[in-house]
Amino acid sequence: MVHTVGEVVTTTAVQSVPGVSSDGAGHARRALELVARMTLGEKIGQMSQVNIGADHVPADLRGAIAAGRVGSVLNAVGVDLVNELQCLAVEESRLGIPLLIGRDVIHGFKTVFPIPLGQAASWNPERVREGARVAAAEAASVGVNWTFAPMMDISRDPRWGRIAESLGEDPYLSSRLAAAMVRGFQGDNLAARGTIAACAKHFAGYGASEAGRDYNTTNVSENEMRNVYLPPFKAAIDAGVASLMASFSDLDGVPATANEWLMKRVLRDEWGFAGLLVSDWESISELMVHGLTANHRQSALAAARAGIDMEMASTTYRDHLEGLVGDGHIAEAELDVMVANILRVKFALGLFERPYTDAAEHAALANPDHLRAAKDAALESLVLLKNDDQVLPLDAHRARSLAVIGPLADAPFDQLGTWVFDGDPKLSITPLDALRETLGEAVTIHFAGALATSRSRDRQGFDEALAAARRADAVLLFLGEESVLSGEAHSRADIRLPGAQEALIEAVAALGKPTVLIVLAGRPLALGNVVDDVASILYAWHPGTMGGPAIAEVLLGRASPSGKLPVTLPRQVGQVPIYYNHKNTGRPATPESFVHIDDLPASAPQLSTGNTSFHLDAGYTPLFAFGHGLGYGEFSYQRIRVSDRRITLGSSFAIEAELTNVGIREAVEVAQLYIRDLVADVTRPVRELKGFQRVRLKPGETARVSFRLGTEELAFYNRRMRSVVEPGRFQAWIGGSSEAALMAEFEVVGG
Ligand code: BGC
Repeated sequence: MVHTVGEVVTTTAVQSVPGVSSDGAGHARRALELVARMTLGEKIGQMSQVNIGADHVPADLRGAIAAGRVGSVLNAVGVDLVNELQCLAVEESRLGIPLLIGRDVIHGFKTVFPIPLGQAASWNPERVREGARVAAAEAASVGVNWTFAPMMDISRDPRWGRIAESLGEDPYLSSRLAAAMVRGFQGDNLAARGTIAACAKHFAGYGASEAGRDYNTTNVSENEMRNVYLPPFKAAIDAGVASLMASFSDLDGVPATANEWLMKRVLRDEWGFAGLLVSDWESISELMVHGLTANHRQSALAAARAGIDMEMASTTYRDHLEGLVGDGHIAEAELDVMVANILRVKFALGLFERPYTDAAEHAALANPDHLRAAKDAALESLVLLKNDDQVLPLDAHRARSLAVIGPLADAPFDQLGTWVFDGDPKLSITPLDALRETLGEAVTIHFAGALATSRSRDRQGFDEALAAARRADAVLLFLGEESVLSGEAHSRADIRLPGAQEALIEAVAALGKPTVLIVLAGRPLALGNVVDDVASILYAWHPGTMGGPAIAEVLLGRASPSGKLPVTLPRQVGQVPIYYNHKNTGRPATPESFVHIDDLPASAPQLSTGNTSFHLDAGYTPLFAFGHGLGYGEFSYQRIRVSDRRITLGSSFAIEAELTNVGIREAVEVAQLYIRDLVADVTRPVRELKGFQRVRLKPGETARVSFRLGTEELAFYNRRMRSVVEPGRFQAWIGGSSEAALMAEFEVVGG
């Protein structure tokens, strides 16, 4: 049977201003009226965000709020605390302006979802939207009205710990998912109960931190910035995001926080962003540390001139803006614009009408619906990288005993991942819990942690683990990284499995049992040394509160894995950065030109290799490609066709292929569309993702997957930094990863 499944819609909605309020114009008017009544001190107060740093309201903060010197409080959690803060602002300050209450609600609040990189592996915008919706609902129930998410920094370097927070390496996938997260947090109406303002961060280019070391310098050409790093931010703005956060990083010599090109020219002038722009934590005072300014006064001026509306944590605005205005360095009218940006968000949130939170009006934290959503998200985040001899799913009738080995099999805290200020490990269901619960008496489980932590080098536990493995029909190794090894300020230079884990795998593999490696990690790890030692690898990221049940369902075949890699997995760290949408170079490597270091004869002459772009010791291909991921079905793609061979500029066209499940189990496949623009004003990537869709097929079933594109979706920034679609030849592939082989060609012709 052939049927057509839905087409991908890639164009995004137009932003209303700011956020997704239904009354943008009304809020703008009210904001201006309010600004007109404010003193300079009150304006600067709105531009100041203060970290509470306590579980009560400290006296100095109390006084500052009552005096109208604070616009937002960071990290105040708890209904009573937040209501007390709002009461001070609303009842005691002269103008009664409520506070923005900011918190990092990154992948869940009490109910923790998979890390964003894991959620991205679902390639399912609807799932990602739902995760943010639940996170918002829980955060709103304790008075938080502003989250610092989604993070959408394109991340091509797995050494960088913050890759865990990202949506991966691809501009298109990140854009789709970032927009979905914004919609999840903000809903259709920011003033509705249970929605909170989102914040697209970190604007921009932070993911390019040199050597993957956090906070490090970034040098990104304008063309690369526009073609690679900026698109997700534009998509978030088109989805109505209420705020943006400046990046910490030094961008081409001008830190983002003071970068007028980025913040004014691109963000405000070109894109017309009318929302709130917040600094990162102390990033204004750090301008001095960067060596851009000599003192805090200059830092305040540089950031204000760049249009940073609100200062997070540091106090340069509070301390110096009044003097800077008095001395004529910056006009008060410029501050008025910035204050209005902040106030509009407060109006859009409905805070003036409803400053207080009543927990009774909200759904309970970690309620069964939220936990179910977290499990569904975890399920779709799991990526089956390899599955030799169909070791998975485990056959509970044949495998009467299982060895469950490794420090992450039963690690309720670590499975939550980074940025879980409000997550509760006591709610976590670990893989060991879930396997025991699901299998009951039917299967004997021999558990051995083997290593105290993922970093441990102490092999004392190996004997017990090997004994467990010997007694079992199959071995499940739960290895990877603890949560603290990824996230902000947690970068690694060696991205192999840390500690003695590789040795553990080797020792277990020597027993010759069917062995499955389940990786829990905050980043793509370099698994080149161990990939051949195990039959099957399931990549589980840090899967959150409900990671255990999701993993158990997949291992036991109650669900088929459907995740796909949102980032490339290198063989070894020296290949980094390695990403699928690279340029061709003038000398691309081929199987014929590649020579391995072991194959070079002694005294080999200089020209003994094919002179193409590869590493002698690592080749040029990744271990697992972007987009890769297996299911329990087996998929075959055939008969690709483009609706028109010649496509007129400005028109739309379809690219289709037939997808058949030739396996013996029902499964979901994420069908992917890639294109290549063969000749252009600036060199274009060898492949670019342009569409994807999830398709569920029964064994033997065929679907026609169809992607409709407008020619504007072929646009890129050229040498003059214009977004253009150039007539000419293109290639298109449809398949199950960025290595898809099924290709068709088409030509775009002038209109
Ligand atoms: C991070 C931001 C975060 C902020 C507030 C900073 O260190 O870079 O991503 O939102 O802290 O916690």
